[in-house]
Amino acid sequence: MQQTLVTNSRDPTRLPLLSRIASMDVAVEGLRSFRTALQFCMSHAENKVVLITGPTVGMGKSFVSANLAAILASSGRKVLLIDGDLRDGQLHRYFHGQRAGGLSDILTGTPAANCLRTSVLENLDFISTGCLPPNPSELLSKPLMKSVLAELSPNYDMVIIDAAPLLAVADSLILGAYASAIFLTTRSGLTRPGEIAESIKRLARAGMSAKGVLFNDMSLRAGRYGDRHHYVYGYGTLRQLGYASDVQRTITNEA
Ligand SMILES: Nc1ncnc2c1ncn2[C@@H]1O[C@H](COP(=O)(O)OP(=O)(O)OP(=O)(O)O)[C@@H](O)[C@H]1O
Ligand SMILES: [Mg+2]
Repeated sequence: MQQTLVTNSRDPTRLPLLSRIASMDVAVEGLRSFRTALQFCMSHAENKVVLITGPTVGMGKSFVSANLAAILASSGRKVLLIDGDLRDGQLHRYFHGQRAGGLSDILTGTPAANCLRTSVLENLDFISTGCLPPNPSELLSKPLMKSVLAELSPNYDMVIIDAAPLLAVADSLILGAYASAIFLTTRSGLTRPGEIAESIKRLARAGMSAKGVLFNDMSLRAGRYGDRHHYVYGYGTLRQLGYASDVQRTITNEA
């Protein structure tokens, strides 16, 4: 699969959607399972807004957001994907578009309808970052952000927001307040347990909690599916993480 992705990403202005070029890949299978779990956990949610974040850069937050949105859309759900990483969001590259004309413009007064890219895929609408602003946290904190989501989300079954790294900047905590579910994306070999614990702690301090942790880029053991180079996503609630209860205890003790 790595080869497929590399072959398809030679054009630096474009990023490949795994769910489109390799719909039978185990990573896509993992995301399909996550889609089912997500739909279940969102069935009684206050709103249909989901935030995909993660502790640090390069975890695959955008990779997960784009592919999850595409997979949800392909199952007939009406989906809005928003690039909420106003620091360096790249989601427009998955849809062969420009950055300009997106969220930062909406938050500085452009009507949302003017920035909505409809049907970038069947059932999938998209809002890019817009030009990267000098004050992302301030923009995202504006009451306008909440009202834009309230205006747009009734038109969709799911609104997915991709965000900047949680441990680096406050943006994920700001956006998390608008979401019914927050998921932490971690990456095999890169994320340290302490970073997950710290992310959970920061969310807790802001009165929020993650609905689950996504384990990205785990390689399967040789022989299980015949190819140990495939990537896969694991999805688990915090309780299912081996060390999660200790993490929770640490937070409680330190609170
Ligand atoms: N499971 C995967 N298999 C192969 N490539 C992956 C996988 N997950 C992520 N990548 C690649 O890793 C790189 C980093 O992923 P991505 O941009 O989604 O991370 P991010 O968490 O959004 O980072 P940032 O904080 O910089 O926005 C990208 O080139 C992406 O295509
Ligand atoms: Mg990203």
